[in-house]
Amino acid sequence: MGKKLRIGVFGGARGNSMIQVLLHHPDAELVAVCDKYVPLLEQARKNAEAAGLSIACFENFDDFLKYDMDAVVLANYATEHATFAVRCLRAGKHVLSEVLPSETMAQAVELIETVEETGLVYAYAENYCYMDLTFEMWRKYREGAIGDVTFAECEYVHDCASCWVDITYGDPAHWRNHLYPTFYCTHSLGPVLMMTGRRPVQVVGFENPPIEEFYHLGHAGGHASGIEMVTLDNGAIVKSIHGPLKLEPAHTSYKLYGTRGYLGTHAGDSGDQVRLYQESPEHTCQGENHFYAPEKFVSAELAENSGVATHGGSDFYPTHFFIEKILGKEDGKWSIDVYQAVDMGICGILAFRSILNGNQPVRIPNLRNKEERDAWRNDRACTNPAVAGDQVLPCSSYPERVLDAEEIARNRHMWEERHK
Ligand SMILES: NC(=O)c1ccc[n+]([C@@H]2O[C@H](COP(=O)([O-])OP(=O)(O)OC[C@H]3O[C@@H](n4cnc5c(N)ncnc54)[C@H](O)[C@@H]3O)[C@@H](O)[C@H]2O)c1
Repeated sequence: MGKKLRIGVFGGARGNSMIQVLLHHPDAELVAVCDKYVPLLEQARKNAEAAGLSIACFENFDDFLKYDMDAVVLANYATEHATFAVRCLRAGKHVLSEVLPSETMAQAVELIETVEETGLVYAYAENYCYMDLTFEMWRKYREGAIGDVTFAECEYVHDCASCWVDITYGDPAHWRNHLYPTFYCTHSLGPVLMMTGRRPVQVVGFENPPIEEFYHLGHAGGHASGIEMVTLDNGAIVKSIHGPLKLEPAHTSYKLYGTRGYLGTHAGDSGDQVRLYQESPEHTCQGENHFYAPEKFVSAELAENSGVATHGGSDFYPTHFFIEKILGKEDGKWSIDVYQAVDMGICGILAFRSILNGNQPVRIPNLRNKEERDAWRNDRACTNPAVAGDQVLPCSSYPERVLDAEEIARNRHMWEERHK
């Protein structure tokens, strides 16, 4: 066997999922972890030791980046991935990025151009594309099981109110507290784009009403759920909804209608299944329904043995496909590249422009084309003034609120009590 790839992980919270995969992967090894929150570094070090590995731990990203590594996993703040991806690529490291790919249109252009210039691997860790059900839908659609997509629906419903203080540390400046409704769109839209292989060409955005509870938990815009109505390049429409709505347990749902049938996730009495309807070639409006729980069909044994089965069985795959793509192996073909990542991410960025503009449709550029990039190269509009400058946006179309000092102190205290 050749030398294992040396991989570092930036961000030890969500990054722990990638750490677990790397600790047991035959083609790669975890060599370093970076997080400014020291308890997460300690946890990573302990996990590595239990797997017989000694890793370097860094609180500071600059020191981490100088370490001897082939590749970096970015599991840092969702709004900062493109900035750090560009730094890693320029330092000669392949990059696997957690969601989202970029905070702005300008960063999307810079990210694509940096990947092109360096020739290194960029992979997007949209794990929802690799859940047991969605991955099977991807496979069946590409086999031609239902013809060409005509309409699709996708949803990612996750209230998060009960854990909001945990995942924001009770800090009103945390990125989650300034999310606008359509930003976090790739858990819903991503699988539809990967299943169908279609490109989004237009988006109309909608914002549901803000949620009173979330203002008090620290979200400046009341953390409303967002909707993107996306037109694909064959004219099919996709309805994508995501965010906090009152339904437990949290769930995802995907439906693809095609010219010859239907593929969807199905929450049946006997567990989660794929539903495949195929119209008879002889008799229109007649066909067969199949309901089944799919088996894993890519590196199933390795995935099962990794012990990482979270998020519908998906969490092994983004890291595995990244490794295999760097090594030029067969499984690497399932890795999500920078153009596909940006297609997904900019649907959310531009849907919010649509919302702020009275739900006007917005054309989605194809940033594979160099001539389409200049129009977006300096578009820094986002909710962070340090990035946006004079292009700063609110995080809701409803009036923003500032939490009073007492509530901030209460939320922070709650976090401290829970993390003693
Ligand atoms: N795909 C999924 O299913 C899934 C699930 C949860 C989170 N995520 C994504 O994972 C990412 C991380 O989310 P999270 O839940 O871990 O919360 P988070 O964003 O609060 O955590 C990020 C971690 O990175 C560290 N960090 C950030 N910037 C740093 C810096 N400059 N120097 C040192 N350390 C730094 C923080 O201390 C923190 O521990 C986000 O992009 C989020 O969207 C994805």
